[in-house]
Amino acid sequence: MYSRIVGTGSYLPERVLTNFDLEKCMDTSDAWIRERTGIERRHIAAPGESNTDMAERASRAALAAAGMQPADVDLIAVGTTTPDLVFPNAGTLLQERLGCRGAPAFSLEAACSGFIYALAIADKFVRAGDSRCALVVGSEILSRITDYSDRSTAILFGDGAGAVVLAPSSEPGILSTHLHADGSYQHLLYCTGGPARGAAPGPAPNGLPPMDYVRMHGSEVFRVAVTLLGRIVDETLAANHMDCSAIDWLVPHQANYRIIQASAKKLGLPLERVIVTIQEHGNTSTASVPLALDIGTRDGRIKRGDLLLLEALGGGVTWGSALLRY
Ligand code: UT7
Repeated sequence: MYSRIVGTGSYLPERVLTNFDLEKCMDTSDAWIRERTGIERRHIAAPGESNTDMAERASRAALAAAGMQPADVDLIAVGTTTPDLVFPNAGTLLQERLGCRGAPAFSLEAACSGFIYALAIADKFVRAGDSRCALVVGSEILSRITDYSDRSTAILFGDGAGAVVLAPSSEPGILSTHLHADGSYQHLLYCTGGPARGAAPGPAPNGLPPMDYVRMHGSEVFRVAVTLLGRIVDETLAANHMDCSAIDWLVPHQANYRIIQASAKKLGLPLERVIVTIQEHGNTSTASVPLALDIGTRDGRIKRGDLLLLEALGGGVTWGSALLRY
């Protein structure tokens, strides 16, 4: 028994923040941002828009693509680091919107790797026969934890959501998933403000409790990302007794175009076989892999039967991959 992706969906908020918009409010330039990151614009959630709103839009699109109804969903796994509430968890809030009462629902925080973590867990439920319609979501409102006075991070992040539906299949399907974490790198990329820590420094918009922002040592994260993503690609291919020539599409976390280039080079894949969507939405953390997957599917690049390698690395650091037959 395998689990197989039977539908994808995504959502980007309407408001667009371009590099030229950022030029007007901080010491940066479109040329610098494009050259150093590949990003051209990002989408920003409207003031009243929530993480759950975005997750719902992506989920409904994925269910429609799968030809399934919300009532069919028997497992919800959400990756997010920007949930609307500390609890109930983001999966449960989404479940209430979709109306599939009773189905187990959870969210997990693994930063940019959250979707791959959630996918790996849902895959095991489906393979074990415990789920016949698993909804796996990555949804993030990073604009709410971005410090727009810090040009080294403000230019990177955007909001968005992506989702996939997993169903059982006798044909592969997800071939393997690989997850790792190394907390010794926590100082490189983090966001304080955890509720157990008590009041954190930082402004409190609209009377909300204080919350700090994303902090990142960018060039060090860059080096760690290139090394660890290179390693997990080898691990994934070796576990499946394959070499990189078998891969039709690399679907990487969209953090920096130069990291994506390095991953492709390591694999010996031409960039024409990499789904690159970073220019359109910037770094959307856990949403970026399912967003890229959905965009690549809907524009016809990714086809049924293609062999896909998904990979991501994020704060923690956490990192993961999935090899799958689409
Ligand atoms: O999603 C989770 C994982 N995240 C990542 O993988 C992100 C990894 N890191 C990166 O993508 C890159 O490190 C950044 C895009 C964040 C930065 O690029 P970089 O090439 O590593 O630049 P840098 O931090 O080494 O800075 C180079 C220069 C500095 O100036 P000096 O000291 O050389 O004079 C910065 O002050 O660029 C300057 N700089 C900027 N200049 C214009 C930093 N940010 C900006 C900016 N506009 N926005």
